[in-house]
Amino acid sequence: MPIEIPDQEKYLELKYQRMARIVDAKMSRVTDPIIKKVYKKFGVNIFRRCSAPADYSEKVFKDTMGHGKFVSALEIGTLNGITAAVMSQYVDKVYTFDIEDYDKKYEIWEYLGVRDKIKFYKINNELEKADIINKLYFDIAYIDGDHLHCTWSDFFLTRKCKHCIIHEATLESSEPWKLVQALPKKQVKYFKFAFIKECTIAYWNGE
Ligand SMILES: C[S@@+](CC[C@H](N)C(=O)[O-])C[C@H]1O[C@@H](n2cnc3c(N)ncnc32)[C@H](O)[C@@H]1O
Repeated sequence: MPIEIPDQEKYLELKYQRMARIVDAKMSRVTDPIIKKVYKKFGVNIFRRCSAPADYSEKVFKDTMGHGKFVSALEIGTLNGITAAVMSQYVDKVYTFDIEDYDKKYEIWEYLGVRDKIKFYKINNELEKADIINKLYFDIAYIDGDHLHCTWSDFFLTRKCKHCIIHEATLESSEPWKLVQALPKKQVKYFKFAFIKECTIAYWNGE
């Protein structure tokens, strides 16, 4: 008897498989050195659930952080640490938070030589996360944790920096989408991607 996979899981699995095929096919066009190195060393499957494959990092992080004015960045949702590594190219320090502490990120950061620039926080609950973030200074935040339950609270926690990058912001009716709809239109920029169209990102500049 075949095991029944819930629809959401089926959807995600198909999405990851498709993303892997796209990343494989387009990697020759990617210029971000971090993404290129990670792909070469760890293969395409390391990008499962990662939001920075293919042209993401070049467009979003270079555009929002590549001007050299920011000193530190914060990420919610570390996973394997690939986006934290991408962000570390543009600032002196990256603070990154997750409810899970996956080993792979340490290997990746070590391999890339960025481990000293990244400070990882394993959080046990939302209060702990809030307590730490409230005490930190950072110039830009990337919100990519629990999209369903924490998008709004993550935004309220990090908006003091006035620069927030919000993942999956155009997936209609999703919490990130609702949040971005509530922000002043002229403060929001959308990034469109040539490779993976359904995972889009919004950048809120509240200055
Ligand atoms: C889509 S992945 C992040 C991908 C990562 N930003 C990257 O680009 O490589 C989402 C991550 O958020 C974490 N997460 C889930 N709930 C969270 C929460 N409440 N606070 C922080 N992180 C959370 C998950 O454990 C998972 O590692």
